[in-house]
Amino acid sequence: MKLPLPSPLRSRIVSTSRGEVTVRILHQDVSSLYPGMERYFVEAVLGEEVIASFRTNSYEYSPGVALTAEQAAFSHADDWEAHLAGDVAGFVEYHTPRHHYPAPDAPVTDVVVIQGSPRPDGNCAAIAGWVAEVVKERGLSVQVLYLDDLILHPCIGCYRCFNDGVCTFEDDMDPVYEALEHALLLAVVSPVYTNTVPAGLKAVMDRCQALHARRTITGTRPPDKGRSGLFFSVAGRVGTENFAAILPVATAFFSLVAYPLAATPCFDGMDHVPGIGAVDGARERVEGAVAASLDAILARDEVDGIPEEEA
Ligand SMILES: Cc1cc2nc3c(=O)[nH]c(=O)nc-3n(C[C@H](O)[C@H](O)[C@H](O)COP(=O)(O)O)c2cc1C
Repeated sequence: MKLPLPSPLRSRIVSTSRGEVTVRILHQDVSSLYPGMERYFVEAVLGEEVIASFRTNSYEYSPGVALTAEQAAFSHADDWEAHLAGDVAGFVEYHTPRHHYPAPDAPVTDVVVIQGSPRPDGNCAAIAGWVAEVVKERGLSVQVLYLDDLILHPCIGCYRCFNDGVCTFEDDMDPVYEALEHALLLAVVSPVYTNTVPAGLKAVMDRCQALHARRTITGTRPPDKGRSGLFFSVAGRVGTENFAAILPVATAFFSLVAYPLAATPCFDGMDHVPGIGAVDGARERVEGAVAASLDAILARDEVDGIPEEEA
């Protein structure tokens, strides 16, 4: 869905030692996508160049905060006008953007496996290894992300990602975002922890709100065609009811990151066996799910060519 264009709210000219700078405030109503959300942009423009940009949105201001996004935008513009009139060089230096995304050195692969157990050598790790082997046998590239290796801050609900599509934190999520922008198949492997996913995996899921925000803001949600998702889970207890809560969590996550969920193989009773390797048919189920997903992706590529992001 296309976002409505921002409309001008105010525009003022400030005379500086480098020439005239226009400080403008723009407003964008995005409530068609996010209920009640309004975005405000404050921009300082010298000639054709935007020398400073501040963005804010109404979701940033929680109910107990005595400030609105609109007030914050106008207040910024007022401050900038005063600063520009006095010290334009200092203003430009202070507002030089310092982006940490995209992560240019992050590896990108055809398949990404997120191994969501904090145990690096447990059942989920075994499943992640089986997935990777099938992918490699097909001649495709794969990376397995061990969440225990990543240093991640949990989402703090600041909603700043709805301003420019970039999370406020600069940490090990940057390569994860990059990987999820490019992979055709995303496989997540998770143990059941208190009926849902472990905290580290939940942190990744919540932090992917930034990926969703970026795609919405820039209008680049990838086409569902040509991408696929798999969710594998293990539970200690016996019974499929142990996956009743985790499966809706996984479904919501795959929808958030735009990987249509193709299959959700689950394995219960892990506390009753030496390991998933000892469970008859487990490996074959995992390999079969991966092979079916890859077949579907590759068949679509043969027909349609490699899918590209929608403009
Ligand atoms: C903190 C914690 C919570 C757990 N909660 C559940 C649960 O709610 N239901 C269940 O069936 N098993 C539960 N388990 C057992 C794990 O799902 C099981 O041991 C699984 O095999 C662990 O996966 P891993 O070997 O990949 O680490 C829990 C284990 C831990 C450590």
